[in-house]
Amino acid sequence: MHQEEKARLIIGGKTIELPVLTGTEGDKAIDISELYDEHGITAFDPSLGSTCMCQSTITYIDGDKGILRYRGIPIEQFDRPQPNFIEVAWLLIFGNLPTRRELRDFRDLLTANEMLHEGLHRQFGDLPPKSPPMAILSAMLSQLACYYEKFLPLGDDELFIEAAARLISKVRTIAAYSYRRSKGLPFMYPDPALRYCANFLHMMFSIPYQQYIIGEEIEDAMNLVLILHADHEQNCSTSTVRVVGSAKANLFASCAAGVSALWGPLHGGANVEVIKMLESIHNGGMKPEECIEAAKDKTNPFKLFGFGHRIYRNYDPRAKILRAAVDRVFARLKTKDPLLDIARKLEELALKDSYFIDRKLYPNVDFYSGVLLRAMEIPTNMFTVIFAMGRLPGWIAQWKEQHDNLTQKIIRPRQLYTGNKITGYIPIESR
Ligand code: ACO
Repeated sequence: MHQEEKARLIIGGKTIELPVLTGTEGDKAIDISELYDEHGITAFDPSLGSTCMCQSTITYIDGDKGILRYRGIPIEQFDRPQPNFIEVAWLLIFGNLPTRRELRDFRDLLTANEMLHEGLHRQFGDLPPKSPPMAILSAMLSQLACYYEKFLPLGDDELFIEAAARLISKVRTIAAYSYRRSKGLPFMYPDPALRYCANFLHMMFSIPYQQYIIGEEIEDAMNLVLILHADHEQNCSTSTVRVVGSAKANLFASCAAGVSALWGPLHGGANVEVIKMLESIHNGGMKPEECIEAAKDKTNPFKLFGFGHRIYRNYDPRAKILRAAVDRVFARLKTKDPLLDIARKLEELALKDSYFIDRKLYPNVDFYSGVLLRAMEIPTNMFTVIFAMGRLPGWIAQWKEQHDNLTQKIIRPRQLYTGNKITGYIPIESR
């Protein structure tokens, strides 16, 4: 990052010069970090759409061109040949592709940490059977702090690697257990002989004395889904992780907060909403054309879920990969899903409608991920949980990057107050 240019802000007859920063790919940002301290002026940007909240070396997105890169590597290169999700996790967290040895050691660490403490395990039994898996996930990640206190200060690198491995490994066990709880099925312990995704599928679907046979195509599809969700720079949940982490909150608490943000239907929860929308069309609730009209109607809060993105003004590259993966997996499984045909129809209608064209609204990652997960027999209430499993390495990488930046202050935005001018308290009997 370098700064050569200056921006000039003229306000109240005064000219203020502000440095302009340029990122590696030529993106420019006016540095207003000293604006308040030096001039008493704030910037107004309620949803932070024009605000860079940090410098980062992890993920690059060009929303106009539909580009996404992890540590400089285009997302398409993670499709085929497909690396293992764990390699991608290491890449994001530590900045380089792991050597064979680093990968083996990290895998060993994941295996060593795959069990849940029996105390944590028992808590599943006290939860109502219909508990939303995202609520369980957020609560259980936060509770890791009760069992692994030594990781809370995270002063050195060894401890950090172990804490990261613990999180990445246990999130999978917690996720699978939350599903088993919702079904009233016995928990299956993780199998140390299995790879990351296969182990998750085993804990989801095996039953005692009947091992789930893990199809290669299903394992590959799960691996791809996790890779495609692994990071997406400063989105809602990642910013949440950074905000919480900026108060020096521990890694477990920061990631638990990320899970809560991800749960929202405008963010990770959109993959569930997409399926509800497709099912409603399939069940005759709406025609695809009516769905498009409802999404365009400004008096109707309905949105075309899985469409639009704060950053992408083009086809989300992850959606492109998922769209092709759906075709591949369906062909390999020799399966069909009427929801896929409906999704394709909606996409076709939207992409030729001036409302969507003018606003540059294209399918996002959530549009096809749900259909793919359905083909893998993953229940809908687990979709966002799987998104969280995928996003965890990204949250950890972003938390670490911020933690390693010794100049980082607590994140504390300002506001433009528009409430009452000074007024007086009126006792209740006089109101
Ligand atoms: N359906 C209908 N209209 C939409 C949609 C949509 N899915 N998305 C955006 N628009 C409209 C907005 O209403 C706005 O219209 P206007 O200019 O007439 O007021 C215009 O398009 C521009 O909206 P943006 O400013 O681009 O949207 P914003 O950045 O505020 O929101 C968001 C992005 C939340 C993703 C939005 O597109 C949306 O709600 N999509 C549906 C939910 C969804 O799929 N979320 C998942 C996103 S990906 C992820 O988080 C993993």
